[in-house]
Amino acid sequence: MNKMARPVKQLNLPQLLQQQVANHADNGLLKKAKYLQISDALRTAIKNGLVKSNEQLPSARQLALELLSNRHTIMAAFDELIAEGWIESKQRRGYFVADVLPVISSQHTTKCPNEQPEHFTWQFRKKTVQRYQRSAADYRYNFAGGTPDISLFPFKEFKGFVNDALSRPDLASLNYGDNAGHPALIEQISCYLRRARALNNRKIVVVNGSQEALYVLSHLLLDDQDSVAIEAMGYAPAWNSFKSAGASLVAIAQDDKGMLPDSLSQAIEQQNKNSKPIKLIYLTPLHQYPTTVTLPIARRQAIYRIASAHNIAIIEDDYDHEFHYRCQPLAPMASDDPRGLVIYLSTFSKIMFPGARIGFLALDATLAEAVVNYKTIINHKVSVVMQDAIARWMQSGAFERYLRKVTKTYQQRRDFMVNKLHQYQRKGRVISFTIPDGGMAIWIQLDHSAKQLKDWAEKKDIYLQAEHQFCATPQLNDDRFIRLGFAGMDCNLIEKGLERLFNHEF
Ligand SMILES: Cc1ncc(COP(=O)(O)O)c(C=O)c1O
Repeated sequence: MNKMARPVKQLNLPQLLQQQVANHADNGLLKKAKYLQISDALRTAIKNGLVKSNEQLPSARQLALELLSNRHTIMAAFDELIAEGWIESKQRRGYFVADVLPVISSQHTTKCPNEQPEHFTWQFRKKTVQRYQRSAADYRYNFAGGTPDISLFPFKEFKGFVNDALSRPDLASLNYGDNAGHPALIEQISCYLRRARALNNRKIVVVNGSQEALYVLSHLLLDDQDSVAIEAMGYAPAWNSFKSAGASLVAIAQDDKGMLPDSLSQAIEQQNKNSKPIKLIYLTPLHQYPTTVTLPIARRQAIYRIASAHNIAIIEDDYDHEFHYRCQPLAPMASDDPRGLVIYLSTFSKIMFPGARIGFLALDATLAEAVVNYKTIINHKVSVVMQDAIARWMQSGAFERYLRKVTKTYQQRRDFMVNKLHQYQRKGRVISFTIPDGGMAIWIQLDHSAKQLKDWAEKKDIYLQAEHQFCATPQLNDDRFIRLGFAGMDCNLIEKGLERLFNHEF
């Protein structure tokens, strides 16, 4: 007999099972077949530690007698438990509780029921970024700079395109397969970029928002020997991607027109000396994030020449070019890129809503293929139903109609906020600001701590972004600027929010 086994008779298992069957009956489980009631009862007895690993069970015949049941019913119950791994049948010796019990979600999974297992300790190999404590959208006055007004989105109309996508589905695309993007959407994006951004002859890759593209590009193009040149004030989620690939960030000085080409040249030389060469430049040339200024053509050309001379790629993040109010926005750097080193990135997060998670790259064919291959390690596809619906929306002309409408609304909101800010400037609450030619936010100078204002505002149910959130290093932070988004709220809310923000001492 097995050393671990105890005489079954001491346990009086049949009596125990009778009790368990009765309990299960009380719990309304009697509707189950008899053999399942018996297997349930026996499983519970094992889970609760009343019968231990390696203990021998009474024979089917004996149990049948005691439980006033049929031997075949008991055998069926045993078979059920064998299949689940609770008991084992040993040739010519009978049935035993399994040596190792199946994993279950209670503390009774251990062989010794009273022993508390030590909680598992996770060993993280990557650093992560703290998630939002409270999301900007939960504030009554949400001045987050990149927030579109989602309530303006034509959901009803868009539903029609989702319906079309589902009623006349493209079956081949819905299956596993090519991960570059839904062909119909790629065609629409190509056509849109040709007309709106003068971009031709580029491969389009659809991604789960810009963030996925930034992650994939970082991991394809960078490692811990490399550096990335970034705007001294910029978009931290992009920086987090570069850092996640091991790269170091090099903040390049900027002024009221954007990145300074001379500072870029100096940084490239310095990094070459440090044996951490700059491999990538990340730029927001149209509406610089967060200052909203547009990088002049001469600087764009200078930066391009420097990048080309040192074989450095440029990521051009053209995240909200649709919203430009004064004139046609400057064409992107990617539209004048003879060497194919500019990686153009844009998103539907501002045109539609961030939850759509659709972005796209327009880039060189060799890099496009590598991006598609790499992103397939992360995910097989971007939601095909969403891509198909957007393609139908774009093709119908409703997309451009909505863009025209929402751009007009955002322009009115910008003008409204500018007007109000001039009033607060006259009262001395605002020092200065530049009227942005486009985008969704205004960069405003104060005469006191921006961080303190932000902290105070949050207690008053107002969300805004302060300078320190955009600075690549704490030394760059003058703590005097805030960024107020005007697109996400109507004029009434903007007015009330500004009143609450600037009409009180904090
Ligand atoms: C500079 C910049 N790039 C890209 C995005 C959009 O990112 P995603 O497409 O991942 O939503 C934003 C959104 O705020 C942004 O500010």
